[in-house]
Amino acid sequence: MRSTRFSGPFNRRSWLAALAGSMALPSLAGVTARPAITLRFSHVVAEETPKGLAANRFKVLVEQRSGHRIGVQVYPNAQLYGDHDEMQALQLGAVDLVAPSLSKFGRIGLPEFELFDLPFLFDDLNAVRRITLGPLGKKLLQGLSRQGLVGLGFFDNGFKQMSANRPLLELKDFAGLRMRVQASRVIAAQMRALGARPVTLPFSETRRALATGVVDGTENPVSNFWTQAMHEVQSDLSLTEHGYLGYAVVTNQRFWQHLQPDDRALINQALQESLAFANQIADTQNDRALQALRQAGTTRIHRLGVDQRARLRQAVQPVQQQLADRIGPRWMSDLKQALHKS
Ligand code: LMR
Repeated sequence: MRSTRFSGPFNRRSWLAALAGSMALPSLAGVTARPAITLRFSHVVAEETPKGLAANRFKVLVEQRSGHRIGVQVYPNAQLYGDHDEMQALQLGAVDLVAPSLSKFGRIGLPEFELFDLPFLFDDLNAVRRITLGPLGKKLLQGLSRQGLVGLGFFDNGFKQMSANRPLLELKDFAGLRMRVQASRVIAAQMRALGARPVTLPFSETRRALATGVVDGTENPVSNFWTQAMHEVQSDLSLTEHGYLGYAVVTNQRFWQHLQPDDRALINQALQESLAFANQIADTQNDRALQALRQAGTTRIHRLGVDQRARLRQAVQPVQQQLADRIGPRWMSDLKQALHKS
């Protein structure tokens, strides 16, 4: 279990202060009237999350370094497109960049991405890096060309926790619960193995579904749980750390190939720096959200004992074979080799 670091009082003002502080305000000098190009970057989470902060950092870097010749318009919180249509919008050229959760690529014909969803696969973020920064990660991104897309890089949110209106510590606690999941067959299988019923819903509809009782609980890193105010409609958060949630930034092949080489290099460099920034802050964002949750006092926070976590891990073991049957033994052997697992 990773330690929980606290870093002082935390509320929305501190998010925005962090946001402003993290973004050196562009000087007015050299600002051109209108950008020659405007990149449209759509995502589904709040701005005060690792993905939201990364998108805003990318905007500042691109606009500063291009003298505002290249503009970036960020559309957070599924303002423009949500889970159901962001990939299609990208493929049609209606937006230029999206950064979906890795759990959402199986649905567009790339089931190998669901290896990131395997429960209890990664012991820590260093293990994730062995995939995302290694040959397997490169192979995964190359596979995006099958869908006319270009994968520009991976970055973290963090480890997922389970929420409901009861503690989720033992298998019996999950029995019959309707749990909102992302559109991932591995995550659906995980919930079934725990005795729950998976309900696939867009992220933007999750809080309302919890509030109205359409679903009983869900899973996400704390930064998403907090910034979507799920704590107002969930009485218990169980720190299972049972799975990883990360992202890939994706663009449209035609758009990317038609950029001027210098522009493409500037955009890519700004993006890589923004992804590194996101990985630096993701842990802290989740820890700060957990502290804010404690201070809010709305939700009981439960830590699992070693034996309790081991029993959950044992219960979901069959999910690995189900994925292997779908994506083939080669992906699984490459995965185990990359993670130095037998
Ligand atoms: C979810 O749908 O739960 C997450 O993928 C949201 C996100 O993009 O972090």
